[in-house]
This record gives sequence, C-alpha cells and structure tokens, in this order.
Amino acid sequence: MEPIIAGNWKMHKEPGESRSFVQELMALAGEMRDRITILIPAFTSLPAVSEVIRNTRFKLGAQNMHWERSGAYTGEVSGMFLKALGCEYVVIGHSERRHIMGETDEMVNRKMKTALEIGLIPIMCVGEKEAERDAGKTEAVIERQVEQGLKSIENEAHKIILAYEPVWAIGTGKTATPEQAAAAHAFIRSRLKKPSTILYGGSVKPDNIDTLMKEKEIQGVLVGGASLDAESFARIVKFQ
Ligand code: PGA
Repeated sequence: MEPIIAGNWKMHKEPGESRSFVQELMALAGEMRDRITILIPAFTSLPAVSEVIRNTRFKLGAQNMHWERSGAYTGEVSGMFLKALGCEYVVIGHSERRHIMGETDEMVNRKMKTALEIGLIPIMCVGEKEAERDAGKTEAVIERQVEQGLKSIENEAHKIILAYEPVWAIGTGKTATPEQAAAAHAFIRSRLKKPSTILYGGSVKPDNIDTLMKEKEIQGVLVGGASLDAESFARIVKFQ
C-alpha cells in the first residue's frame, strides 16, 4: 500500500487561489509515483481543483458530507454531489466538526455508512483531547470513537482510512512523538476487524515528516496548516 499524504485546507483558499496554489504545488512536488497525495479543499474550491488535477496522480477529497443523499437539509452537502465533482475521498468526524460543530459518534457512523454505500473512501478521524490524555483516558476515548464510528460496518474496515489526530496536537505546533503516535495506531489496529490504513495528523510539518514516516505504524499523514503553503506541503509530499 502506498503511503498517503492528505492536505486538509479547512476554511482557507477561495477558488482562484486554490487553482494557482495547485499549479504551484505541482511544479514543486512533481508527480510522486510511489505515494498518494490527496487535496482536500473547501467545497467551493472543489470544481477548480478537480479541473487542475485532471489526468494527474493527485486525488481529490472533501472535508465533510451529510448522511442523506438528498433532502431538506439546508446548508448541507451530499456525498453524491462530491462524487459528481470527482472526489474519491471524504473526511468524516474531524475534531473541529466534533468539538465545534457538535458532531456525535452517531452522526459520524451514519456518514461513514453512506460514504461506503455511495463509493467514497471515508477518512474517519479519531483522537483524544489534552485533558483526556492527562486523565489516562486516551485509549478509552479512541476505542469509543472507533467502535461507534464503525458500528455495523466493522467488516468493511479495509475499505476505510482512519486518521489518529490527537486534539491537543492540531494547529498547536505540539506533535505527538513518533512513539506516542505509533502506540495509538497499534491500539486502533487492535480494535479493528479488518486492517485499515491509519494516518497521523496534528502539527505535521516539513521538519517532522521524515521521522514520523519512519514509523511502520504510520501509513501516511493528514496535514492542516502546513498544507496551505506550497513549499512546505511539497516538502511533506516529498518525504524521504
Ligand atoms: P494541523 O491540522 O496540521 O494544522 O495541526 C491537522 C488537521 O486538523 O487535520
């Protein structure tokens, strides 16, 4: 399985900026043949990015989707629309959705099921908050998020990607040590019925990517802040 480098732009970059960013990134990173690079722009930039990466090895992902295919859900976006725009991946249950937008494990589970049904590869995020780690609850929190998120789709775990993103490491500059990340990945793996790809996320930067990727347990990364700058993201994509 090729390693995965995914760039989650969150609520940054309008369409024009997204287009020129991807052109710059392609010039800097080239087309790496032995790894999968996924670009995850805001919904509104998906068409522009989709067009620029057509016929390249770059893949497209979305940051969220609704659990229904269509209906009276003002302001929501269907996974079917994402597929129509060329998305192959969708992030589900990012900590900002869970902790700022109030997404529950049950909602995450419904979204996971729909994503699989419609043929999108979900990237399900799990991870503990700082207080939970300090209280020794890291494994209990991750176990609950994995079990509830994959309820009744446990046997399809090989079709999904998991991202271990400790909340205290997201956007803070504090990265989990490779050992902490590897331990959490091994624990997640022990809870799965089928082997999934497991990514690490949380302050991944050009200066820690090589060390993180040396861990056998870490099969790729989900990058936020450092994916917004073409030079730094290109360096991450070109990890050794
Ligand atoms: P960060 O974000 O790289 O800025 O810490 C990671 C994420 O939220 O996926």
